[in-house]
Order: sequence, then structure tokens, then C-alpha cells
Amino acid sequence: MSKRPSFAKSRWFALSVLAVLPAAVSAAINPSFVFKSAPAVNSQPLILALSKEDVQAGSHALLQDAQVKAAINAELFDGTSGQLIKLYHVAGYPQVWLAGVGGANGDKTALSKAGAALVPALDSSKLTAVTLDAGQLNASALLYGISLRAYHFDQLKSKAKPATAVTITTLTQDQASLEQQHQQQQALAAGVMLARDLTNLPAGHLSPEQFAGFARELKQHGVKVTVLDEKAIDKQGMGALSAVGRGSARTPRLVIAHWQGSQAAPVAIIGKGITFDTGGYNLKTDGDSIVRMTSDMGGAAAALGTIKALALQKAPVNVVAVMAMAENMISDRAYLPGDVIKTAQGLTVQITNTDAEGRLVLADAMWYARQQYQPTAMVDIATLTGSKVGALGSYYAGLFSENDQLVNQLTQAGQRSGEALWRLPLNDQFASELKSEVADLRNTGKTTGASTAAWFLKQFAGDTPWAHLDIAGNALSSTDKGITPAGATGFGVQLLTDWSLQQQR
Ligand code: BES
Ligand code: ZN
Ligand code: MN
Repeated sequence: MSKRPSFAKSRWFALSVLAVLPAAVSAAINPSFVFKSAPAVNSQPLILALSKEDVQAGSHALLQDAQVKAAINAELFDGTSGQLIKLYHVAGYPQVWLAGVGGANGDKTALSKAGAALVPALDSSKLTAVTLDAGQLNASALLYGISLRAYHFDQLKSKAKPATAVTITTLTQDQASLEQQHQQQQALAAGVMLARDLTNLPAGHLSPEQFAGFARELKQHGVKVTVLDEKAIDKQGMGALSAVGRGSARTPRLVIAHWQGSQAAPVAIIGKGITFDTGGYNLKTDGDSIVRMTSDMGGAAAALGTIKALALQKAPVNVVAVMAMAENMISDRAYLPGDVIKTAQGLTVQITNTDAEGRLVLADAMWYARQQYQPTAMVDIATLTGSKVGALGSYYAGLFSENDQLVNQLTQAGQRSGEALWRLPLNDQFASELKSEVADLRNTGKTTGASTAAWFLKQFAGDTPWAHLDIAGNALSSTDKGITPAGATGFGVQLLTDWSLQQQR
């Protein structure tokens, strides 16, 4: 006699419950921002952003209100970041929200996270107009967090849930300076969002040429854009970029976006732009991991997003982004394992694995940046190795460089921007792994690690101070986290914009 399974354990029970739950919908608001010198119009809900120190000092008049005091005591509200109390009909306001933002001298990253935490609450409230009073806190950082967390990518949905337009009026005593800070923060947010859009677009919607089209759109902001097509790539002798892109009808491009905001010598940012990485004949066979390879141009997206952020804020720096775009495909024209290709620099490479394509396209892009621009420093950014994901997951991006000054600059930029880096080894120990019997180099080491990939790239840096950022695992997030909703993160834009601004002389 078969035993009847307990009801709770039955799969059918679980399925029937799932079926009636509404599909999870991510937060969707479209915020717009207005600034106003106090006082608040009290017909609108008021959001009070409060630090721990604000709560302790009772620094806002409303904190003396009996109803507010009672709620603070009852809920043990102390201003911790992310705490939120909603009160109704207080002091003439229809609603008052008490929003904790952490320590008063909380850095920009903490404040933007606190701003981000408001987005799901705003979304579910359906409010269309609120007033924000952040007291002495850096309100532009809160608004920055709201903007980035409210990002949503629904251009490919036939019936996107319409986002609620929310006007956020921020009270300020110094409107001019807040608006100026806000503009700078929104320029950065726009750069991050461009990188997210590009990374979210699947390969069918973003070929190397389509990516070039997005770069050309930055011309309206004063960016100089140059695109080399497959013929120009061959003419330059870029045999590595050409080989990787050869298997696809959607031919490779070298995209250059130059923000010349000063007369100083430029720094260069080099981006890996594989619009799809099948692995080539060393085909990726894991269905879950191959679908993520739509994001294998996350480095190029971060490079272009950085240029947009700098251009929109008219930053007084000279930065050139060189983005190596190709689709790594299988076809009768594709490059093959065992092939020997010649880089523009002249070094020949034995292709020991067609899935180690990123370092190949970067090699030619690094050479091009040095030849054309003589940069004072060069940073490449790439979703380069699974080995890096194994070592650091998405907690850090991998940083490889033999230049300690560059390591310090980038590490600090990472700390300030909330895009953390961790240094991994790069030195000539790895040379022996890449010795080839038939060519100058192999493209994979025998232990296929992140450090051998970095050592390969080093061969193309010449004498230019150079650092390599391996952002594999950072470009996509499966969950909402801080200022980043699930999906493409735009990782690298904040970090590289911060670093670029440090180059101001
Ligand atoms: N694009 C991948 C690396 C990657 C893995 C990015 C996971 C994001 C998440 C890269 O082109 C690749 O395939 N690397 C190989 C190199 C190996 C064949 C030497 C890897 O790391 O497995
Ligand atoms: Zn790749
Ligand atoms: Mn690959």
C-alpha cells in the first residue's frame, strides 16, 4: 500500500501555491528631482533622512513631535542605515517617513545605499510626489542611490509594467551647491546606466557594430569617436582581434572614445568587448554559464560608461577608451585551436584554447592605445577568467599590476566608490606557463589561471604603467544588492571615473 505523502511535503501543494502568487516584479519607479529652499509644502509626504547623530541630537523639529518620539521609542529607531518608519497624519503632513542613513559622516557609498533602500518602499507606496529633508547630510548621494536602484531594463518586454513617475523635492539651504553636486552625481549615474544597458542587451541586440553606434551617440557630448571596421583592423595588423572576430558574420570593431577635457597627456582605459563568448571550438558546454556570456562585453561597457560620465560632467581630464569588440563564434571561418596568429605588436601566439579570447583582443587594443595616444597610464578592464570568480567571487574585482602607485590609486578609488578591488599576483613566474614550441607565446597556461592571463597581457603593455582589472563575476548580479538591482551592474564605471578624476593636474 502506498503511503500518502504529507500535504506540506507534496510537490503539488507547493506548485499550487506558487501558481496563485503574483510573479515577482522588481521595483519600478522613474524618479525626477526638484530642489527647493525650505520650508516643506506639508500637503506632500515628507521623508526625513536621519543619521544616528541626528536621532541622538534630536536635530530636526519633527523629532520633538510626540507621535514621532513615540514611534522612535517603540521601534527602537536609531538611524541605522536602511531603517524605515512610516507615520501617517503627523504635524500636518499626510505621511512622514523616518529613514535611517547610518553614521552622520557616513561616506558617499553608505548614503547612496540608504537612498537605494527607499526605492522599494517608494515603489510599493505608489506615491507620485514626496519631499526629502536630509538636513545637513549630502543629499546628492541619497538621490544618486535612488537613481541607480530605480534603474530598470524593460525595453525588450512587450508589456512592461509602467514605472511610477515620482517627483522628489529636496529641501536645501544652499540650492546652488546641491544642484551642482547633484549634476555631477547624475552624470556618474548616467555612465553606470549606459554600462548596464549595454551589458543587459543580449548578443542578438548588440553586435560589435551596434556597440559602436552607442559610442557614436556620445559625440553629442563632445566625445571624439573613432571606429575601425574589420578591414581597418586587418590593415593595422591586428591579427588577434581579427582572429577572434573572424568566425562571426557580425564582424569585429575597434571602438575608440576620447574625452579630451584637458591638454595633459591622456590615460587609457582598455575594455574587453566580446558581445558573445561561445568559447569558439573550445565550446562552452554548460548551459547556465554560456547564457551569461552576453555580458562578456562588460569591460567595454564600463569603459564607455566612464567616458560618458566624464563627458557629462565636463571633467578636466584627458581619457581615451579603446574597446575591442568581437563575437567569439563557431563557423567555417572561425579561428581554430592550434592556429598561430600574429598580434599587431608583432608577437605570434599559438591558440591553445579558443575560449581564452579576451586576452587576444585586449593585446591588440593595448598596442593600439600605446601607439596612437602614448598614455601616461593604462588600465584594462575585462570579464577575463573563471579562475578569478573562483578566487574572489563577486566580492572583489581582481587587480593585477607591477606598478605599486597604480595599485594604490586604483585600490583607493575602489574603496571610495564601493567597487572593491583585491590585488592578485603578477610576476614573471608565470612566463614558463605560456612558452610555446611553435610560436612566441601560447594563449593559455597549463593551469589556466587569472594570473597567467594577466602575464599574457603584460607582454603588450610595453613600458607604460599598466594595471589589469579582472571583473569576471562582477558584471552581472542575480539579486538586488544596495544600489544595484538584479541584472547588469555597470561595475567599473564608478571606480574608473574616480580614478580618472584623480589624474587631474
Ligand atoms: N569570458 C570568459 C570568462 C568568464 C567566466 C567571465 C565566467 C565571466 C564569468 C573567458 O573568455 C573565458 O572563457 N575564460 C576561460 C579561459 C580558459 C579557457 C583559459 C576560463 O577562465 O575558463
Ligand atoms: Zn570571454
Ligand atoms: Mn572565453
